[in-house]
Amino acid sequence: MSGSQRRSVVLGTGSEVPAKIITNHELEKMVDTSDEWITVRTGIKERRVLEDGKGNADMAAQAARRALDDAGVDPNELDAIIMGTVSADYLMPSSACVLEDLLGARNAFSFDVGAACSGFINAMSVADCFIRSGKINKALVVGSDTLSRWLNWQDRTTCILFGDGAGAVVLGASENGAGILSTKLRTDGSYVKTLYIPAGGSRKPATPQTVRDNEHTITMNGKEVFKIAVRSMEEISRQALAEAGVLIEQVSLVIPHQANKRIIVALAERLGVSMEKVMVNLDKYGNTSAASIPVALDEARRQGRIKAGDLVLLNAFGAGFAWGAAVVKF
Ligand code: ACO
Repeated sequence: MSGSQRRSVVLGTGSEVPAKIITNHELEKMVDTSDEWITVRTGIKERRVLEDGKGNADMAAQAARRALDDAGVDPNELDAIIMGTVSADYLMPSSACVLEDLLGARNAFSFDVGAACSGFINAMSVADCFIRSGKINKALVVGSDTLSRWLNWQDRTTCILFGDGAGAVVLGASENGAGILSTKLRTDGSYVKTLYIPAGGSRKPATPQTVRDNEHTITMNGKEVFKIAVRSMEEISRQALAEAGVLIEQVSLVIPHQANKRIIVALAERLGVSMEKVMVNLDKYGNTSAASIPVALDEARRQGRIKAGDLVLLNAFGAGFAWGAAVVKF
Protein backbone atom coordinates (compact mmCIF):
# COMPACT_ATOMS: atom_id res chain seq x y z
CA MET A 1 0.00 0.00 0.00
CA SER A 2 2.64 2.55 -1.00
CA GLY A 3 1.66 6.21 -1.17
CA SER A 4 3.09 7.01 -4.60
CA GLN A 5 0.87 4.80 -6.76
CA ARG A 6 -1.93 6.42 -8.76
CA ARG A 7 -5.26 5.03 -7.54
CA SER A 8 -8.98 5.72 -7.90
CA VAL A 9 -10.40 7.36 -4.80
CA VAL A 10 -14.02 7.82 -3.80
CA LEU A 11 -14.76 11.57 -3.91
CA GLY A 12 -18.49 11.32 -3.20
CA THR A 13 -21.49 9.00 -3.00
CA GLY A 14 -25.23 9.34 -3.54
CA SER A 15 -28.33 7.19 -3.74
CA GLU A 16 -31.99 7.28 -4.67
CA VAL A 17 -34.91 4.93 -4.08
CA PRO A 18 -38.40 5.52 -5.45
CA ALA A 19 -41.06 6.84 -3.07
CA LYS A 20 -43.52 4.01 -3.65
CA ILE A 21 -43.24 1.27 -1.00
CA ILE A 22 -44.65 -2.25 -1.28
CA THR A 23 -44.68 -3.99 2.11
CA ASN A 24 -44.80 -7.74 2.75
CA HIS A 25 -48.38 -7.25 3.98
CA GLU A 26 -49.34 -5.75 0.63
CA LEU A 27 -47.75 -8.74 -1.12
CA GLU A 28 -49.93 -11.04 1.01
CA LYS A 29 -52.88 -9.63 -0.94
CA MET A 30 -51.22 -10.29 -4.30
CA VAL A 31 -49.76 -13.82 -3.91
CA ASP A 32 -50.01 -16.77 -1.51
CA THR A 33 -47.31 -15.65 0.93
CA SER A 34 -46.93 -14.15 4.38
CA ASP A 35 -44.90 -11.43 6.05
CA GLU A 36 -43.51 -14.12 8.34
CA TRP A 37 -42.33 -16.38 5.48
CA ILE A 38 -40.63 -13.51 3.66
CA THR A 39 -39.04 -12.12 6.83
CA VAL A 40 -37.70 -15.48 8.04
CA ARG A 41 -36.50 -16.71 4.63
CA THR A 42 -35.06 -13.44 3.31
CA GLY A 43 -34.97 -10.65 5.94
CA ILE A 44 -36.89 -8.37 3.57
CA LYS A 45 -39.80 -6.29 5.00
CA GLU A 46 -40.51 -3.90 2.12
CA ARG A 47 -39.21 -2.80 -1.27
CA ARG A 48 -39.47 0.28 -3.54
CA VAL A 49 -41.04 0.41 -7.00
CA LEU A 50 -40.41 3.10 -9.61
CA GLU A 51 -43.54 4.98 -10.62
CA ASP A 52 -45.04 4.42 -14.08
CA GLY A 53 -43.73 6.69 -16.80
CA LYS A 54 -40.24 6.97 -15.32
CA GLY A 55 -37.12 5.08 -16.41
CA ASN A 56 -34.00 3.66 -14.87
CA ALA A 57 -31.91 6.74 -15.69
CA ASP A 58 -34.34 9.04 -13.81
CA MET A 59 -33.47 7.26 -10.58
CA ALA A 60 -29.79 7.10 -11.51
CA ALA A 61 -29.75 10.86 -12.19
CA GLN A 62 -30.95 11.65 -8.68
CA ALA A 63 -28.33 9.38 -7.15
CA ALA A 64 -25.66 10.85 -9.44
CA ARG A 65 -26.55 14.47 -8.60
CA ARG A 66 -26.20 13.66 -4.89
CA ALA A 67 -22.84 11.97 -5.46
CA LEU A 68 -21.57 14.90 -7.58
CA ASP A 69 -22.75 17.32 -4.89
CA ASP A 70 -21.04 15.29 -2.19
CA ALA A 71 -17.82 15.25 -4.25
CA GLY A 72 -18.04 18.94 -5.23
CA VAL A 73 -17.65 17.91 -8.87
CA ASP A 74 -19.44 19.55 -11.81
CA PRO A 75 -21.00 17.16 -14.40
CA ASN A 76 -18.79 18.77 -17.08
CA GLU A 77 -15.69 17.58 -15.23
CA LEU A 78 -16.67 13.93 -15.75
CA ASP A 79 -14.58 12.00 -18.30
CA ALA A 80 -16.73 8.87 -18.08
CA ILE A 81 -20.10 7.59 -16.91
CA ILE A 82 -20.15 3.83 -16.43
CA MET A 83 -23.40 2.26 -15.28
CA GLY A 84 -23.96 -1.25 -13.99
CA THR A 85 -27.50 -2.18 -15.02
CA VAL A 86 -29.58 -4.93 -16.60
CA SER A 87 -32.73 -2.81 -16.81
CA ALA A 88 -31.81 0.06 -19.10
CA ASP A 89 -34.39 2.64 -20.19
CA TYR A 90 -34.32 1.22 -23.74
CA LEU A 91 -32.91 -1.90 -25.38
CA MET A 92 -30.67 0.64 -27.09
CA PRO A 93 -28.89 2.92 -26.46
CA SER A 94 -27.41 2.43 -23.01
CA SER A 95 -28.96 3.82 -19.83
CA ALA A 96 -25.65 5.63 -19.24
CA CYS A 97 -26.28 7.71 -22.40
CA VAL A 98 -29.72 8.70 -21.12
CA LEU A 99 -28.11 9.58 -17.79
CA GLU A 100 -25.39 11.63 -19.48
CA ASP A 101 -28.06 13.75 -21.13
CA LEU A 102 -30.05 14.19 -17.91
CA LEU A 103 -26.89 15.36 -16.12
CA GLY A 104 -25.65 17.50 -19.01
CA ALA A 105 -22.27 15.80 -18.70
CA ARG A 106 -21.11 16.84 -22.16
CA ASN A 107 -17.46 15.80 -21.84
CA ALA A 108 -18.04 12.23 -20.75
CA PHE A 109 -18.15 9.00 -22.73
CA SER A 110 -20.83 6.70 -21.34
CA PHE A 111 -21.75 3.05 -21.45
CA ASP A 112 -23.50 0.31 -19.49
CA VAL A 113 -21.96 -2.77 -17.95
CA GLY A 114 -24.31 -5.76 -17.79
CA ALA A 115 -23.38 -7.98 -14.86
CA ALA A 116 -26.71 -8.07 -12.98
CA CYS A 117 -26.19 -7.88 -9.20
CA SER A 118 -22.43 -7.66 -9.67
CA GLY A 119 -22.89 -4.71 -12.06
CA PHE A 120 -21.65 -2.02 -9.71
CA ILE A 121 -18.41 -3.82 -8.82
CA ASN A 122 -17.81 -4.59 -12.50
CA ALA A 123 -18.48 -0.97 -13.51
CA MET A 124 -16.23 0.31 -10.73
CA SER A 125 -13.48 -2.07 -11.79
CA VAL A 126 -13.64 -0.78 -15.40
CA ALA A 127 -13.58 2.87 -14.24
CA ASP A 128 -10.67 2.05 -11.94
CA CYS A 129 -8.62 0.70 -14.88
CA PHE A 130 -9.25 3.88 -16.90
CA ILE A 131 -8.23 6.08 -13.95
CA ARG A 132 -5.19 4.09 -12.82
CA SER A 133 -3.84 3.98 -16.39
CA GLY A 134 -3.99 7.79 -16.53
CA LYS A 135 -6.43 7.76 -19.46
CA ILE A 136 -9.07 9.64 -17.48
CA ASN A 137 -9.24 11.61 -14.22
CA LYS A 138 -12.86 11.55 -13.10
CA ALA A 139 -15.59 8.95 -13.50
CA LEU A 140 -19.15 8.58 -12.35
CA VAL A 141 -19.86 4.95 -11.51
CA VAL A 142 -23.51 4.03 -11.11
CA GLY A 143 -25.41 0.91 -10.10
CA SER A 144 -29.07 1.28 -11.01
CA ASP A 145 -31.78 -1.28 -11.65
CA THR A 146 -35.53 -1.30 -12.13
CA LEU A 147 -36.25 -5.02 -11.88
CA SER A 148 -39.86 -4.37 -10.78
CA ARG A 149 -40.59 -3.96 -14.50
CA TRP A 150 -39.41 -7.54 -15.14
CA LEU A 151 -41.19 -9.28 -12.28
CA ASN A 152 -44.13 -11.61 -12.54
CA TRP A 153 -46.25 -10.23 -9.71
CA GLN A 154 -48.12 -13.55 -9.59
CA ASP A 155 -44.95 -15.59 -8.93
CA ARG A 156 -44.39 -15.71 -5.18
CA THR A 157 -40.93 -17.25 -5.58
CA THR A 158 -39.50 -14.13 -7.26
CA CYS A 159 -41.72 -11.06 -6.78
CA ILE A 160 -41.06 -10.93 -3.04
CA LEU A 161 -37.29 -10.58 -3.52
CA PHE A 162 -36.62 -7.58 -5.71
CA GLY A 163 -36.95 -3.79 -5.60
CA ASP A 164 -35.80 -0.69 -7.51
CA GLY A 165 -33.01 1.74 -6.64
CA ALA A 166 -29.88 3.56 -7.76
CA GLY A 167 -26.53 4.37 -6.19
CA ALA A 168 -23.60 6.39 -7.52
CA VAL A 169 -19.97 7.05 -6.73
CA VAL A 170 -17.69 9.76 -8.11
CA LEU A 171 -14.14 8.49 -8.56
CA GLY A 172 -11.06 10.69 -8.93
CA ALA A 173 -7.30 10.06 -9.01
CA SER A 174 -4.99 10.25 -6.02
CA GLU A 175 -1.51 9.15 -4.99
CA ASN A 176 -2.03 9.47 -1.23
CA GLY A 177 -2.34 5.72 -0.56
CA ALA A 178 -6.15 5.66 -0.33
CA GLY A 179 -8.52 4.35 -2.99
CA ILE A 180 -9.46 1.10 -4.70
CA LEU A 181 -6.77 -1.36 -3.62
CA SER A 182 -8.09 -4.35 -5.56
CA THR A 183 -11.00 -5.63 -7.63
CA LYS A 184 -11.67 -9.26 -8.60
CA LEU A 185 -14.29 -10.36 -11.13
CA ARG A 186 -15.54 -13.80 -12.16
CA THR A 187 -18.31 -15.36 -14.23
CA ASP A 188 -19.62 -18.85 -14.95
CA GLY A 189 -21.85 -18.77 -18.00
CA SER A 190 -22.96 -22.38 -17.58
CA TYR A 191 -25.55 -21.00 -15.11
CA VAL A 192 -27.18 -18.57 -17.57
CA LYS A 193 -30.60 -20.21 -17.25
CA THR A 194 -30.51 -20.53 -13.46
CA LEU A 195 -31.46 -16.86 -13.21
CA TYR A 196 -32.60 -15.09 -16.37
CA ILE A 197 -35.33 -13.39 -18.39
CA PRO A 198 -36.11 -15.85 -21.21
CA ALA A 199 -37.61 -13.55 -23.88
CA GLY A 200 -37.17 -10.05 -25.23
CA GLY A 201 -33.59 -10.51 -26.39
CA SER A 202 -32.24 -11.56 -29.80
CA ARG A 203 -32.63 -15.29 -29.05
CA LYS A 204 -36.34 -14.98 -28.40
CA PRO A 205 -37.77 -11.61 -29.43
CA ALA A 206 -41.10 -10.43 -28.02
CA THR A 207 -44.26 -11.96 -29.51
CA PRO A 208 -47.83 -11.99 -28.22
CA GLN A 209 -47.12 -15.57 -27.12
CA THR A 210 -43.99 -14.72 -25.08
CA VAL A 211 -46.03 -12.04 -23.33
CA ARG A 212 -48.88 -14.48 -22.60
CA ASP A 213 -46.36 -17.03 -21.28
CA ASN A 214 -44.76 -14.48 -18.92
CA GLU A 215 -41.38 -15.00 -20.53
CA HIS A 216 -40.37 -11.37 -20.08
CA THR A 217 -40.06 -11.78 -16.34
CA ILE A 218 -37.35 -13.11 -14.04
CA THR A 219 -37.10 -16.91 -13.86
CA MET A 220 -34.93 -18.32 -11.10
CA ASN A 221 -33.82 -21.47 -9.30
CA GLY A 222 -33.43 -19.78 -5.91
CA LYS A 223 -31.91 -22.75 -4.10
CA GLU A 224 -29.13 -23.12 -6.66
CA VAL A 225 -28.37 -19.38 -6.54
CA PHE A 226 -28.24 -19.44 -2.75
CA LYS A 227 -25.78 -22.33 -2.54
CA ILE A 228 -23.31 -21.02 -5.09
CA ALA A 229 -23.60 -17.36 -3.98
CA VAL A 230 -22.23 -17.97 -0.49
CA ARG A 231 -19.31 -20.12 -1.67
CA SER A 232 -18.35 -17.82 -4.53
CA MET A 233 -18.55 -14.58 -2.56
CA GLU A 234 -16.35 -16.02 0.18
CA GLU A 235 -13.74 -17.19 -2.31
CA ILE A 236 -13.58 -13.97 -4.30
CA SER A 237 -13.52 -11.84 -1.14
CA ARG A 238 -10.46 -13.74 0.04
CA GLN A 239 -8.82 -13.23 -3.38
CA ALA A 240 -9.53 -9.48 -3.34
CA LEU A 241 -8.16 -9.18 0.20
CA ALA A 242 -5.00 -11.11 -0.74
CA GLU A 243 -4.42 -8.94 -3.80
CA ALA A 244 -4.82 -5.81 -1.67
CA GLY A 245 -2.50 -7.19 1.02
CA VAL A 246 -5.25 -6.69 3.59
CA LEU A 247 -6.28 -9.11 6.36
CA ILE A 248 -9.99 -9.61 7.05
CA GLU A 249 -9.34 -8.40 10.63
CA GLN A 250 -8.23 -5.02 9.21
CA VAL A 251 -11.55 -4.51 7.39
CA SER A 252 -13.84 -2.17 9.31
CA LEU A 253 -16.96 -2.73 7.19
CA VAL A 254 -18.16 -5.38 4.75
CA ILE A 255 -20.80 -4.22 2.25
CA PRO A 256 -22.24 -7.33 0.62
CA HIS A 257 -24.82 -7.48 -2.15
CA GLN A 258 -28.22 -7.28 -0.45
CA ALA A 259 -30.08 -10.34 -1.79
CA ASN A 260 -30.99 -12.36 1.27
CA LYS A 261 -30.13 -11.90 4.95
CA ARG A 262 -29.38 -15.61 5.25
CA ILE A 263 -26.80 -15.40 2.44
CA ILE A 264 -25.18 -12.42 4.18
CA VAL A 265 -25.07 -14.15 7.60
CA ALA A 266 -23.62 -17.35 6.07
CA LEU A 267 -21.00 -15.31 4.21
CA ALA A 268 -20.02 -13.36 7.35
CA GLU A 269 -19.64 -16.64 9.26
CA ARG A 270 -17.41 -18.12 6.57
CA LEU A 271 -15.27 -14.97 6.43
CA GLY A 272 -15.07 -14.83 10.23
CA VAL A 273 -16.58 -11.35 10.44
CA SER A 274 -19.07 -10.36 13.16
CA MET A 275 -22.40 -9.00 11.91
CA GLU A 276 -21.68 -5.60 13.55
CA LYS A 277 -19.11 -5.12 10.80
CA VAL A 278 -21.56 -5.99 8.02
CA MET A 279 -23.85 -3.44 6.35
CA VAL A 280 -27.45 -4.69 5.99
CA ASN A 281 -30.30 -2.58 4.61
CA LEU A 282 -32.22 -5.15 2.54
CA ASP A 283 -35.09 -5.08 5.04
CA LYS A 284 -36.03 -1.68 3.50
CA TYR A 285 -35.28 -2.26 -0.17
CA GLY A 286 -35.07 -5.98 -1.01
CA ASN A 287 -32.64 -6.96 -3.74
CA THR A 288 -32.02 -3.88 -5.90
CA SER A 289 -29.54 -5.73 -8.16
CA ALA A 290 -26.67 -3.45 -9.27
CA ALA A 291 -27.90 -0.68 -6.95
CA SER A 292 -27.63 -2.64 -3.75
CA ILE A 293 -23.93 -2.05 -2.99
CA PRO A 294 -23.74 1.67 -3.89
CA VAL A 295 -26.99 2.39 -2.01
CA ALA A 296 -25.66 0.56 1.06
CA LEU A 297 -22.28 2.29 0.69
CA ASP A 298 -23.93 5.71 0.56
CA GLU A 299 -26.09 4.94 3.59
CA ALA A 300 -23.10 3.62 5.53
CA ARG A 301 -21.12 6.80 4.81
CA ARG A 302 -24.03 9.04 5.78
CA GLN A 303 -24.50 7.06 9.00
CA GLY A 304 -20.84 7.72 9.87
CA ARG A 305 -19.92 4.05 9.57
CA ILE A 306 -17.00 4.79 7.20
CA LYS A 307 -14.20 7.15 8.23
CA ALA A 308 -11.03 8.33 6.51
CA GLY A 309 -8.49 5.52 6.48
CA ASP A 310 -11.09 2.74 6.87
CA LEU A 311 -10.78 -0.42 4.77
CA VAL A 312 -14.07 -1.58 3.25
CA LEU A 313 -14.75 -4.89 1.51
CA LEU A 314 -17.47 -5.03 -1.19
CA ASN A 315 -18.76 -8.30 -2.63
CA ALA A 316 -21.58 -9.28 -4.95
CA PHE A 317 -23.10 -12.24 -6.77
CA GLY A 318 -25.82 -12.42 -9.39
CA ALA A 319 -27.17 -13.60 -12.72
CA GLY A 320 -24.64 -14.97 -15.18
CA PHE A 321 -23.46 -16.17 -12.78
CA ALA A 322 -21.29 -13.08 -12.35
CA TRP A 323 -19.61 -12.17 -9.11
CA GLY A 324 -16.95 -9.86 -7.78
CA ALA A 325 -15.26 -8.23 -4.81
CA ALA A 326 -13.29 -5.07 -4.13
CA VAL A 327 -11.22 -3.64 -1.30
CA VAL A 328 -11.38 0.14 -0.92
CA LYS A 329 -9.42 2.39 1.44
CA PHE A 330 -11.28 5.59 2.30
N1 ACO B 1 -44.26 -17.43 0.31
C1 ACO B 1 -44.59 -18.58 0.88
N2 ACO B 1 -44.08 -19.77 0.49
C2 ACO B 1 -43.18 -19.76 -0.50
C3 ACO B 1 -42.78 -18.57 -1.15
C4 ACO B 1 -43.36 -17.37 -0.71
N3 ACO B 1 -43.04 -16.18 -1.25
N4 ACO B 1 -41.89 -18.88 -2.10
C5 ACO B 1 -41.71 -20.20 -2.06
N5 ACO B 1 -42.50 -20.74 -1.10
C6 ACO B 1 -42.63 -22.14 -0.71
C7 ACO B 1 -42.11 -23.09 -1.76
O1 ACO B 1 -43.10 -23.36 -2.72
C8 ACO B 1 -41.73 -24.29 -0.94
O2 ACO B 1 -42.92 -25.01 -0.66
P1 ACO B 1 -42.88 -26.63 -0.65
O3 ACO B 1 -41.92 -26.98 0.43
O4 ACO B 1 -44.30 -26.96 -0.37
O5 ACO B 1 -42.41 -27.01 -2.02
C9 ACO B 1 -41.25 -23.70 0.38
O6 ACO B 1 -41.79 -22.37 0.43
C10 ACO B 1 -39.76 -23.62 0.50
O7 ACO B 1 -39.24 -23.05 -0.70
P2 ACO B 1 -37.69 -22.98 -0.99
O8 ACO B 1 -37.46 -22.51 -2.37
O9 ACO B 1 -37.05 -24.27 -0.55
O10 ACO B 1 -37.26 -21.85 0.05
P3 ACO B 1 -35.81 -21.34 0.38
O11 ACO B 1 -35.58 -21.45 1.81
O12 ACO B 1 -34.79 -21.91 -0.57
O13 ACO B 1 -35.95 -19.78 0.08
C11 ACO B 1 -35.39 -18.12 -1.57
C12 ACO B 1 -36.23 -19.34 -1.23
C13 ACO B 1 -35.72 -17.01 -0.60
C14 ACO B 1 -35.66 -17.69 -2.99
C15 ACO B 1 -33.89 -18.49 -1.40
O14 ACO B 1 -33.61 -19.68 -2.08
C16 ACO B 1 -32.97 -17.40 -1.93
O15 ACO B 1 -32.90 -16.32 -1.40
N6 ACO B 1 -32.17 -17.70 -2.96
C17 ACO B 1 -31.29 -16.73 -3.55
C18 ACO B 1 -32.06 -15.93 -4.54
C19 ACO B 1 -31.35 -14.69 -4.94
O16 ACO B 1 -30.68 -14.07 -4.16
N7 ACO B 1 -31.54 -14.32 -6.19
C20 ACO B 1 -31.06 -13.12 -6.70
C21 ACO B 1 -29.63 -13.20 -7.05
S1 ACO B 1 -29.15 -11.68 -7.51
C22 ACO B 1 -29.40 -11.28 -9.17
O17 ACO B 1 -28.52 -11.50 -9.98
C23 ACO B 1 -30.65 -10.66 -9.61
